[in-house]
Amino acid sequence: MGQNPTGGLLSVQRRKEIYAICQRFDVLIVEDDPYWYLQYPSANSFSRLSDDDATTRKSSGFPFLDSLVPSYLSVDTDGRVIRLDTFSKTVAPGCRLGWVTAQPKVIERILRITESSTQQPSGFVQAMVAELIVGPQGSEDDGRGGNKDGSGWKADGWVRWLEGLRTQYEKRMNTMCDILEEGRDVLRMGRRGSLSALTLDDEVDSRRESDEWAVIETSRMYDFVR
Ligand SMILES: Cc1ncc(COP(=O)(O)O)c(C=O)c1O
Repeated sequence: MGQNPTGGLLSVQRRKEIYAICQRFDVLIVEDDPYWYLQYPSANSFSRLSDDDATTRKSSGFPFLDSLVPSYLSVDTDGRVIRLDTFSKTVAPGCRLGWVTAQPKVIERILRITESSTQQPSGFVQAMVAELIVGPQGSEDDGRGGNKDGSGWKADGWVRWLEGLRTQYEKRMNTMCDILEEGRDVLRMGRRGSLSALTLDDEVDSRRESDEWAVIETSRMYDFVR
């Protein structure tokens, strides 16, 4: 959904069309979507749900999550979507800890493969993320969760964190775009007629005016959609 590196998003309509093709040819969809939580509001408005979809969609209970363009899971009627999520982009890079959402038969196969290969993600990272989100386990546990008082974030805090993170990234993106926009025009300077094709009016002008006249031409190199 959040294409790397373009940041492009597939609209719900486009996703439905792709899903229909996968149904026709019996193809599974692996939705590897680590940036889902970091969608910018501008992307949401581009990929907005139709009014019908928006009213039938089940709420997550979190307005922030509901505002994001929904996953392929939301259009999956056959159990052909395998969704991969990760903490790597939202807690710490290199966490290498995530979760899979899919129909039970697929999950059972993945479990068997995992048992005979990687076995499980790093135990240290599991403990760290569990403490951050769930918080210390009982009075004997002297660990600290993500909240200031040492309790765990729980689902509310996790979603609040994601929303704040998205805002931070958006601010950085806007700062970067502002800086790049300052240099997006290339200026060329020269004698009239030496830069680009002249219009008829320009030709008349240039014949009338001195050869000493110099012109400055501006070419825009790029634009951003924010
Ligand atoms: C497309 C994609 N999927 C998933 C991940 C995250 O993977 P992991 O959870 O193994 O760190 C990344 C990050 O590098 C990625 O670029």
